[in-house]
Amino acid sequence: MLYGRDVAPGEKERDKMEGYRWKAAVVTLSDKGYAGEREDKSGPLICEMIAEAGYDVQKTVLLPDEKDEIKKYLCLLCDIERMDIIFTTGGTGFAPRDCTPEATLEAADRIAPGIAEAMRLASLRITPRAMLSRGVSVIRGQTLIINLPGSPKAVRENLEAVLPSLDHGLAILTARAGECAR
Ligand code: MTE
Repeated sequence: MLYGRDVAPGEKERDKMEGYRWKAAVVTLSDKGYAGEREDKSGPLICEMIAEAGYDVQKTVLLPDEKDEIKKYLCLLCDIERMDIIFTTGGTGFAPRDCTPEATLEAADRIAPGIAEAMRLASLRITPRAMLSRGVSVIRGQTLIINLPGSPKAVRENLEAVLPSLDHGLAILTARAGECAR
């Protein structure tokens, strides 16, 4: 046979995934947090939620709302540290210093808008202010980057909306799954 397949797709995906935990980084963007004027509760909450979902949290960092620094750090986490996924929290609103989406887009190779859309859709059922988050979701190389808003409440609500679907997206992105079964 010219185009044969020796392993059923389901088995192939399981083989490649066995025992693997997604390498994750959590980046908090906050001038006040960076200056030590406000305790970062959102970063630790993300770590807790994703660790519970089986992710391997390898890096956590707190940065000020400086676009070029944020972009540089995101690129480092993707290109050097080879993270599978990066969650950011904060800096997605309308305040003059909020620049997380711009920094993230500058680091992006491709957009993955469905994740940000799903978070806003789910969040709008909870609060109309969900429309005030400008957060984006993108891909750089083989890393998925997702912006979450800054408050712990918003982090929990947004993450709960998308976390169950990320595993399959990461499997495809990192070529750990051959095809989309459904
Ligand atoms: N999304 C959810 N699910 N729950 C929330 O409470 N707060 C909103 C929005 N998204 C919120 C939310 C508010 S009030 C703002 S200003 C924006 O996120 C931006 O937040 P950030 O500037 O802290 O990133």
